[in-house]
Amino acid sequence: MFVDVNGRYFVVFVFLMLINSVSAQSVQVVNANLGRSVILPCTANHDTLTAYWRYNDSKTVCDIIRGKVNFEEQDPVYKSRVESFPSKFAKGNFSIKLSNLKKSDAGIYTCNFPSTLTPGTVQLRVTENRTGDVMRRPDSLLLFLLGCVLLSN
Ligand SMILES: *[C@@H]1O[C@H](CO)[C@@H](O)[C@H](O)[C@H]1NC(C)=O
Ligand SMILES: *[C@@H]1O[C@H](CO)[C@@H](O)[C@H](O)[C@H]1NC(C)=O
Ligand SMILES: *[C@@H]1O[C@H](CO)[C@@H](O)[C@H](O)[C@H]1NC(C)=O
Repeated sequence: MFVDVNGRYFVVFVFLMLINSVSAQSVQVVNANLGRSVILPCTANHDTLTAYWRYNDSKTVCDIIRGKVNFEEQDPVYKSRVESFPSKFAKGNFSIKLSNLKKSDAGIYTCNFPSTLTPGTVQLRVTENRTGDVMRRPDSLLLFLLGCVLLSN
């Protein structure tokens, strides 16, 4: 009886873990530095030549329509900062390159397909490299020295 209850909880637990890992996998996290450029990945696993890139489900980043890049509906914040790779479209690769990254570029990007299929989702994080590098190095050096002191005693 006890084992049976535990067994059921275990199954539910594993099931929840599976759901969690599946939903976690569908969002790709991309880190990039301020002022640099980044590739936002998007791959279609079905036959299409159309993909609509959106920021936060609202701003238009760019539209790829029947294998042609279209900037007509593009939000001005992305002007001249988006590059696509037309030679890859036929392979289902609709990745784009976003340049001159700003802090406000951080957030959720979706690559939407015309059918009802799930969009690709990318979470972009924009970091300032200077502070991160300068702050972290002394810390690890300190830990290393501390380790040496402890080991020699
Ligand atoms: C995302 O969109 C919602 C409404 O659609 C808006 O309230 C929110 O401020 C937006 N966030 C960013 C980071 O643009
Ligand atoms: C898609 O194309 C981009 C740009 O050429 C490239 O960086 C990326 O590796 C490609 N992705 C795949 C899955 O081939
Ligand atoms: C980030 O580091 C690179 C060199 O690694 C440098 O060229 C660039 O200016 C740095 N960006 C910022 C915002 O500090």
